[in-house]
Amino acid sequence: MNLCVLASGWGSNLSSIIHSRKTGKISSDIVLVISNNSASNALNIARENQIPAVHLSAKQFSSEAEYENRFFELLKQYKVDMIILAGYMKMIPVRIVKEYKNRILNIHPALIPSFCGKGLYGLKVHEAVLEYGAKVTGVTIHLVDEEYDTGPIVIQRTVPVNDNDTAETLQKRVLEVEHEIYTEAIKLFETKKFNISGRRVFFT
Ligand code: GRF
Repeated sequence: MNLCVLASGWGSNLSSIIHSRKTGKISSDIVLVISNNSASNALNIARENQIPAVHLSAKQFSSEAEYENRFFELLKQYKVDMIILAGYMKMIPVRIVKEYKNRILNIHPALIPSFCGKGLYGLKVHEAVLEYGAKVTGVTIHLVDEEYDTGPIVIQRTVPVNDNDTAETLQKRVLEVEHEIYTEAIKLFETKKFNISGRRVFFT
């Protein structure tokens, strides 16, 4: 598969996916990296790895339609089969969600449907977990639909919350699991067939 990774921030998930490609854990090529944030480290990581890196933001266009057209054009130009959201802070245009139905993955640093939705991102997720007093958190990889964090779940993995955790220590441990299971999820889509019944995703 040809993967396009969308990222807004630091890009550790992008790095980990590139590493998985280099070490043969996945066979898909990362053909394009897009960020809405020109200062995103993900763009640097892509360039260092000779992967085309594009800063694409709706603010660069005079209309939403022009922005969507450019987005779509890029995906076609690089023959993208699957879109991987790795800390991407913007909604994907609905037209692209529809065109890439069941071919867009997102990662969330908690166990959906807990601690998710609009406004819950980054450290805020881990702060909310600690404030609630949850004893277990984790990582969710899900397919993307038109809403925040609501698409069918592909993989979930738990991470215990320790008594001495801060949002930062929890984030660090959760991130390690994120890196492991994003690779697993991509591999599932590479090597298995899947079907979806209601919200349940089955790999066969
Ligand atoms: C990760 O915690 C991911 O789950 C969330 O955004 C963060 C991105 O981290 N969606 P990074 O930029 O990949 O380091």
